[in-house]
Amino acid sequence: MGQNIFTNPFKPGAGHMPPYLAGRNSEKDEFVKLIQQKVILENLVLTGLRGVGKTVLLETFKPLAQTNNWRWIGTDLSESTSISEESVALRLITDLSVIASDIVFKKKVVSSMGFGKQTKIVEQKLNYDVLSNLFNSIQGLIADKLKAVLEIVWACMQQEGKFRGVIFAYDEAQTMSDHPQKEQYPLSLILNVFQSIQRKDIPFMLILTGLPTLFPKLVEARTFAERMFRVLFLNRLNKDNSRDAIVKPIEKEDCPVKLSDESLDLIIEVSGGYPYFIQFICKEVYDVFVQQHGCGEPVGVPINEITRKLDNDFFAGRWAKVTDRQRQLLYIIANLPDSDDKEFTVQEVVDKAKKLEISFSSSHVNQMLSTLASKGLIYKNSYGKYSFAVPLLAQFIKRQPKDYLQ
Ligand SMILES: Nc1ncnc2c1ncn2[C@@H]1O[C@H](COP(=O)(O)OP(=O)(O)OP(=O)(O)O)[C@@H](O)[C@H]1O
Ligand SMILES: [Mg+2]
Repeated sequence: MGQNIFTNPFKPGAGHMPPYLAGRNSEKDEFVKLIQQKVILENLVLTGLRGVGKTVLLETFKPLAQTNNWRWIGTDLSESTSISEESVALRLITDLSVIASDIVFKKKVVSSMGFGKQTKIVEQKLNYDVLSNLFNSIQGLIADKLKAVLEIVWACMQQEGKFRGVIFAYDEAQTMSDHPQKEQYPLSLILNVFQSIQRKDIPFMLILTGLPTLFPKLVEARTFAERMFRVLFLNRLNKDNSRDAIVKPIEKEDCPVKLSDESLDLIIEVSGGYPYFIQFICKEVYDVFVQQHGCGEPVGVPINEITRKLDNDFFAGRWAKVTDRQRQLLYIIANLPDSDDKEFTVQEVVDKAKKLEISFSSSHVNQMLSTLASKGLIYKNSYGKYSFAVPLLAQFIKRQPKDYLQ
């Protein structure tokens, strides 16, 4: 193969499968344990900061489940899915119908044409229309209707005897919410329904993936959620795994790019081991190296230019959405020791504000942190401490002009 056939392998982009998925072995092992359950006692929450690799890991769980005889369904959730209990129920039914429509269901039909009654058996496929008619024909609360549909589908699937169970996998699940002011509790509905059918030994397992706000949100909706889920918090990659993510895709004979140890260390350091940043930086480095290669010039990583591009592509949009006053607060947090890695409390922020001579009361900080949380920049964990929700945000803030401080 000629050199120009080898194309840039790196894939920065939400949900794009990397050329080499580094690390994550312990998470895969945990997942394999979960799918050995006969009775579902634990479901899965897969969580972590933006760009840490939740979606692509979920994608790699799918074939693992399928080779273990699970059926797999699911999609991305959005705020519109969780507008009402009915919309969530229909979402689940729609997803279920994708696999249920293979199943033939025998139905007794009693007709009273002519003299007397006749009973015949009609075969029907469990497609969306059948399932939604069934849902609508059942009386009662939405939760009861949905449970009944799920139970019937499982009873029919069992007759086929081929499958171990069904995994309902939903990404971006942090967008789900209950809406007490409208008396709609779609998030609680999902939790209630799965808990109830799992108690009846129906092997339907729930996987929810999303930002770190997700799990606290589930527990807030239903305290039993704490016991219902195994939580896998994806962290940045360690040094060895970061190295693999960078080197494995280009360790091929026909790849025109080679990295020195120096370049490699620099990429590991600047990316902080965050998968999206690794893909982003490597893609840029690859292009630069291919060009430099042709000129016979010594090859180096133009890290300042790449960082500027990353700031522009990844951070600038989020930064543009915050007011000057909010920037001041984020600046204070960025200047707490290690705030890219460590949690912080309101009190720590207030103390730091005093030191930096920027005036903020604790009620003010509290209020503003929740606004920043709704903008996806901060999150509050279940113990009431806060963290940045965007990786390496403190470093970005420190690189920016500080005109908002005047
Ligand atoms: N283990 C890994 N090794 C190498 N690259 C990875 C790994 N995991 C993810 N990536 C890369 O990181 C980027 C982000 O991955 P992904 O979209 O799965 O993250 P995410 O956590 O779902 O992000 P978001 O919070 O925005 O939904 C992608 O470009 C992907 O190819
Ligand atoms: Mg994702």
